[in-house]
Amino acid sequence: MNGLRIAETFAPDEHIVVYPGDCLDLLKTVPKGSIQLVVTSPPYNIGKEYEKRLDLKQYLAQQEKVIEQSVRALSPSGSICWQVGNFVDKGAIIPLDTVLYPIFSKFGLAMRNRIIWHFEHGLHCGRRFSGRYETIVWFTKTDDYVFHLDPVRVPQKYPGKKHFKGPKAGQYSGNPLGKNPGDLWVIPNVKSNHVEKTDHPCQFPVELIERLVLSMTNEGDWVLDPFLGTGTSIIAAIRHGRRGAGAEVAPNYLELAKDRIEREMAGTLKTRPMDQPVYDPVQAGNKLTVSPWDKQDKEMTLFPGDPE
Ligand SMILES: C[S@@+](CC[C@H](N)C(=O)[O-])C[C@H]1O[C@@H](n2cnc3c(N)ncnc32)[C@H](O)[C@@H]1O
Repeated sequence: MNGLRIAETFAPDEHIVVYPGDCLDLLKTVPKGSIQLVVTSPPYNIGKEYEKRLDLKQYLAQQEKVIEQSVRALSPSGSICWQVGNFVDKGAIIPLDTVLYPIFSKFGLAMRNRIIWHFEHGLHCGRRFSGRYETIVWFTKTDDYVFHLDPVRVPQKYPGKKHFKGPKAGQYSGNPLGKNPGDLWVIPNVKSNHVEKTDHPCQFPVELIERLVLSMTNEGDWVLDPFLGTGTSIIAAIRHGRRGAGAEVAPNYLELAKDRIEREMAGTLKTRPMDQPVYDPVQAGNKLTVSPWDKQDKEMTLFPGDPE
């Protein structure tokens, strides 16, 4: 990947574009139909340090403008993936995908999946169950959309299973490349111990976007993230021979994004591999998994003859 440069303005013959400013200004410069995948996690309007809290109506009006420009920039075989959680209003939650759906639908897009992204870490709620998933809503512009399953297949649960009757009896029944990953994705979110953690409060894990890039684009295609943050979507795109563009308004995140993209190009950016199983502390023998409250009982059960 050496020899690539990070441009600030969009041109179809570039490979990497990091636009320092508002995403609408970037999108207006992108030729119609030139982007294969628009993927993003927009501000959720929950008062993070980078967002000014708007009422829901204003927020949706702002999102509509970005979605409209994204649809214009999207190729006829392209996809839009909007990754969102909940808007919280005086303790009541509004799942953002439910209120954004009518906007995507109004622009003629068809929904292909509502992917549940499940993770195990986050805020602990006292007055409702703690939120441990967000969604990725995937829309396409036409029925003739790019979709490759083979590069994103995951290991079968029972790879040794065989057909037990019929003309294929005795042959393995599963696909040797693995199974369809389904629409519930268990991928660790980027919290304190994650190898990809930066100062940004809500980064995408690179592996999440790699799955979308590999399944929804071809080599050389453009992937665009209007709300780029730390540059994750560009990293996932260039890692697999695609082109990547994005806009970011906050100067500190812009610097983070450029630094991470440069490290990706140099092959020194550390990320969690796509095929790594989720860490299981019990299986890993982590001592903290033994509760201090029932530790004594367990020790007595395990080593009944041991002296205290
Ligand atoms: C939810 S974060 C995205 C994080 C990103 N997915 C990552 O992996 O780092 C949203 C980002 O959008 C940026 N942002 C907010 N409004 C913007 C706008 N109008 N144009 C471009 N970026 C904007 C924020 O500064 C923030 O970094």
